[in-house]
Amino acid sequence: MDDISGYTDAVRGMWGDADYPALADRFAPAAHDLVDALAPGPHDQVLDVAAGTGSAAALARERGAAVLATDLSPRMVALGRGRTAGSGVVWLEADVEDLPLPPTCADIVLSSFGLIFAPRPAVALAQVRRALTPAGRFGLTAWTPDGFMGRMTRVMRRHSPAPPGLADPLDWGRPEMVRDRLAAFTDVGVVTRTLPWHFDSPAAMTAFLLAHSPVHAAAAAGLGGARAAEMFTEVEEMTGPAGWPVRLDAEFLVATATVGNT
Ligand SMILES: C[S@@+](CC[C@H](N)C(=O)[O-])C[C@H]1O[C@@H](n2cnc3c(N)ncnc32)[C@H](O)[C@@H]1O
Repeated sequence: MDDISGYTDAVRGMWGDADYPALADRFAPAAHDLVDALAPGPHDQVLDVAAGTGSAAALARERGAAVLATDLSPRMVALGRGRTAGSGVVWLEADVEDLPLPPTCADIVLSSFGLIFAPRPAVALAQVRRALTPAGRFGLTAWTPDGFMGRMTRVMRRHSPAPPGLADPLDWGRPEMVRDRLAAFTDVGVVTRTLPWHFDSPAAMTAFLLAHSPVHAAAAAGLGGARAAEMFTEVEEMTGPAGWPVRLDAEFLVATATVGNT
């Protein structure tokens, strides 16, 4: 897709359409793993891109770093500002593919389940590299294609296909692909982790996703009643018997890298 401005405008609105903070809480263990891996300290300037409501940003700030949190969605930025009010986290509305920031402004750039949604990974990565100092560190989290989130995404795509020509966010969850994309960095590390994905029942999971996940709410709205129900039935069947509690571990990877001198 050459001109992505229409797509970007659509997702800018879409990400503000559900009540995201409860989903951010469920994803928070990954933000902890990411911030632990990058270990920001009081002398670091940290840039959180596609920060959502600022889970990783807040943790970096707790470690004493100066933190700038950015996101495409005005609603996410407003929620993040409210959540981190008084902590010193600074917020800016910005597309990760077009960061309005000076070069070499960040010691650490990080993104938990955020940069993976950039439709042009090479463009986003170029922005990250430009923002980083020569010894800067980068890290992201991404759902693995074969973990529950990856498999659920594939089911959803079958029912509600993504626009053609855009990168697949799940590619960031493939270790070999991540290493390839980060080839210009040094010290590339990739580890897999899980976070708990627990609900009282498959139907409770669907209700939660419809209320709190912008992606699921948008897919359901686009498909309409019967077709959305069909999609969620298929998703629920992946979790175990109807009516039983959902007790899954959702697999993701944490990738880290250093700019180095190349
Ligand atoms: C699943 S949420 C993750 C948010 C947050 N990092 C967290 O851990 O909860 C994905 C976020 O990516 C943001 N996003 C999607 N595309 C983006 C883009 N091109 N530039 C900046 N942010 C983007 C969305 O607005 C949303 O806040």
